[in-house]
Parts: sequence; structure tokens; C-alpha cells
Amino acid sequence: MKVLFACSEAYPLAKTGGLGDVGGALPRALARLGVQVRLLLPAYKTTLEKARPQGLKLLREFEVNQVPVKLWQSRLPGSRVPVWLVDIPEFSDRAGSLYGDDSGTDWPDNPYRFYLFSKVAEHIALNKVGLHWRPDVVHSHDWQVGLVPALLAGQQNAPASVFTIHNLAYRGIFDYQTFVDLQLPEHWWHYERLEFWGNFSFLKAGLVYADAITTVSPSYAQEIQTEQFGCGLEGVLVNRARQLTGIVNGIDTDTWNPGADPYLAVPYSRRTIKRKIHNKLALQRELGLPEDESVALVGFIGRLVEQKGVALILGALPALLSQARCQFVVIGSGQPEFEAALQELRSRYPQRVSVTIGYDESLSHRIEAGSDIFLMPSLFEPCGLNQMYSQRYGTIPVANFVGGLRDTIVNFSNFSDAIDAASMSALVNVDETGFLFSEASVTALSEALRHALTCFDNKLLWRKLQDNAMSQDFAWGKSARAYLELYRQTVSRTTQSND
Ligand code: ADP
Ligand code: GLC
Repeated sequence: MKVLFACSEAYPLAKTGGLGDVGGALPRALARLGVQVRLLLPAYKTTLEKARPQGLKLLREFEVNQVPVKLWQSRLPGSRVPVWLVDIPEFSDRAGSLYGDDSGTDWPDNPYRFYLFSKVAEHIALNKVGLHWRPDVVHSHDWQVGLVPALLAGQQNAPASVFTIHNLAYRGIFDYQTFVDLQLPEHWWHYERLEFWGNFSFLKAGLVYADAITTVSPSYAQEIQTEQFGCGLEGVLVNRARQLTGIVNGIDTDTWNPGADPYLAVPYSRRTIKRKIHNKLALQRELGLPEDESVALVGFIGRLVEQKGVALILGALPALLSQARCQFVVIGSGQPEFEAALQELRSRYPQRVSVTIGYDESLSHRIEAGSDIFLMPSLFEPCGLNQMYSQRYGTIPVANFVGGLRDTIVNFSNFSDAIDAASMSALVNVDETGFLFSEASVTALSEALRHALTCFDNKLLWRKLQDNAMSQDFAWGKSARAYLELYRQTVSRTTQSND
């Protein structure tokens, strides 16, 4: 099986969020199953620098739409997976982040950048650039490469196309003038194709034209077919329900391994869980909080946007911080009003709250290891990765019962205030790993956090939850096999219908 994996992010070469984690880990897992995978990635300036140590070889020079393109070959660090880097000045001559400038404003030419990237994917898929390598499947991810299935549809000898939705909320919507400027085929301007309420959507192109659609958890696959979670695309998804499946993400268990994590003060495993405490003390020291073993340390890592439930955190924490013995540690960046409100919370509780605005991969590992409880009150969550990292690090998640959170955390449901500690610890079942609340409200989050804090004080119970959490298998193997099976089915279905 040959797969061209077209993605705008792949850790450690390019990452802004979970898409990067998946773009870096799934190709490796597929390669382990014997899939010949080629990862197609934009040659962002920072990506070229990170790829250089693995070697960069100029593979081909060609043109798409009269634009000269250089295709570099490198490898995903720490693996043998070939990476093909698409070098056009719009990627390689730009400082800033992957999608915008340092202030967070999107590049105005993003539709053009990702249209060109998608054209390159099309050219390679149709074996037009002299690589003598023709994929059986082109697997593209999120709106940036939503045009790829549309560009391939109806072409002679096109490979099968699989499109994965990592987040339906980012639909890649642009106006009619952009559609004209990109010279997209006129018949695409139709409400059953790319047109979307007077504009058009890159993501919708993927949903309409892909031979198979996946999303990153079974629950999210159901949710996005409803008005509440469908972002206006629920109609399209209901129409394509037979081609839509949910495959839950795995995690990279090498990068996220508490037993061999170079960022930690003291590595630990399920057997040596007692050593986790040293990471808590080290984190408190690093962030200038009082060093205290017994206080519950609550962590949050993520983009500071509506999706992540930051408003719920801001609503719940003040009461909690004044009533309960806990500390709260955040790292994130995003909407300025959330950043400011968190800073404000810190200045009110300087001994209890630490806020780091920014992006820091190593600190995020230390927060996973040093926290007791991990907060994830997302309003929606296609999959979510931090709740899985947390469980692997023996850090108990408190999360909203949506999307991938419901598929990867088992709620400790027997909680009761009414019985003594020893009896309560006997109520933990072997599969329970966290606390889920079933309504996105400040009250529901506060109650779940209170449950978690009460349980934290019950050492026996807590150890059981940690043991359950650390025993979970979140490795990519099973999900990668599900993708491989889907590729096989899609190839066989599309070949039959072409015959
Ligand atoms: P999403 O992709 O919606 O942002 P996920 O939970 O799938 O959410 O993945 C987020 C990824 O980005 C995780 O690997 C998380 O650790 C990382 N991350 C998010 N914000 C930060 C930050 N400020 N610093 C370091 N890592 C971050
Ligand atoms: C998106 C989603 C997140 C998911 C990630 C990787 O960014 O918001 O839930 O884990 O993609 O699939």
C-alpha cells in the first residue's frame, strides 16, 4: 500500500496543535505496518531548518500553474519515513508562524498558499512530476488540503482519496473573489459542492469529494451530524454518513513516555509512581509557587480559545481557589481577552496560580508530569490529546463529556460524599480513569473538580485511578491498523466503481 499523506503540520518539523502531533505520529505508525508512506509537508522556513540535520536532497523542480516549485526530500526525525517538502517562497521565505504573523493574524494569502500546496499533491498523486511513484491513496487532513480530493475527483487513474476532519470549526472559508482569483472550476460554485452561504469552503471540498471521510473519534463522528456540533456542515455530513467513520487518535508513546522523558526532573513509570512527586515539587519551584506535596496541583495546556472551555475555567476557579487547597498552572496562548483574564487571576492569587502565555513544548511535558489533575473542559473536542498524555503520566483528567474526551476517559461514576474514604476507594472499577461532567457549565465543571479534589485526598483511591490511567494503551498501533483497513476498502471500492 502506497500512501501520500498531505498535511500542513507534522511534529517535530511543524506544529501548532494536535494536528501536528498526528501528522508526525500516524505516518510512522503506518510505516511500521509496512505502508509505503510519503509525508507531504509545506517547507516552512522553520521546517527547512529542522529538517536539515536529517539531510535535505533536492528531489524535483517543476511548475504548478506557472509557479516554480522545489521538492526537497528529508526524513521525519527519528524514523525512516520520507518527508517531501514543498518549497515555494510563500512558505520558505516567511518568518512568523505557520499560518500567520507573530501577532496571530492569518496571512491574507493563505488560500493561495494552500491551493498551491494542494496542486502539488495533485501533481504527485497523478504521477505528473517524474517521481515514478504513484500512490494508491492520498490521505489529506483538515481545511488546508481540503481541495485535494476535489482536484482528484473525476481524473483518469486518480488514486483513492481519504479526508480526515481534525476540527470542523476551521472550515477555511473565503469569498467569491478568492474563488475567482484561484481560477477554481466554475461548477464548484454550487451549494452541493464548495459554495457555502455566499462564500466557499476548502473543508467542504474535502467533505463533498473524498472517497472516504474520517474524523478523529467515533463520538465526534456522530456529533458533527447534528446542528449543535455540525458548524453548518451537518447536512453534507449526514448525506455522506455512509462514507464517514471515526477513528480515535493514538499518541506517540516515545515522545510522551514518563519513564524516558528528557524534559522531566525525575523519570517515573507505573511501578515507580512514587517518584512523580519530585516532578510536582520541581514544577512548583520552576514556576515560583510554594513547594507543597499535599496541595492538589491542577494543570491546563492548550490554545486559549472558546473551544477549550477557557470561559468555564475562568468562571469556576475563583470560588475554588478561595475554598479549596489547590494550585493552578496554565500554559497557552490565543485570544487576548482570555490571556488577560488569566493574568488577572494570577495577580489575585499569586501563591496559587501560575500563568505562562506562550508555547513551550518542554514545559508542557513538565506540567503533564507535575500536575495531579488535568483540566479539559472543552465545549467540543474532536479527539484531544492532552487527556491521553495526562493518563499516561498518572495525571487524572477532569473533562467535559464530548467527542474524543468521552471515548478516551472512563468516568469514575461511583463517587459519593456520603461514605468514608476506605469504602469509597473500594468503589473504583479497574477501567475508571478520570472525571467527566455532562454539561458545559461552570456549575458542572466546579462540581466535577470538587469531586476530583475530594478523591485526591483519599490516597488509596487516587493511586487506583492513577494505576488505571497509566495502564491504558493509547499507542497508535490499533488506530493505524484501522486506517490501513479503511485504505484497503476504499481502494477496492473505488477501483470497482471505475471498472
Ligand atoms: P488542539 O489540536 O485542538 O489544539 P489537542 O489536545 O489535540 O488540541 O492537541 C494540542 C497539542 O498542542 C498538544 O500536544 C499540546 O500539548 C500542545 N499545546 C497546545 N498549546 C500548547 C502550549 N502553549 N505549549 C506547548 N504545547 C501546547
Ligand atoms: C484538532 C482537534 C483536537 C484533535 C487534533 C488532532 O486540532 O481540535 O481535538 O485532537 O485536531 O486530531
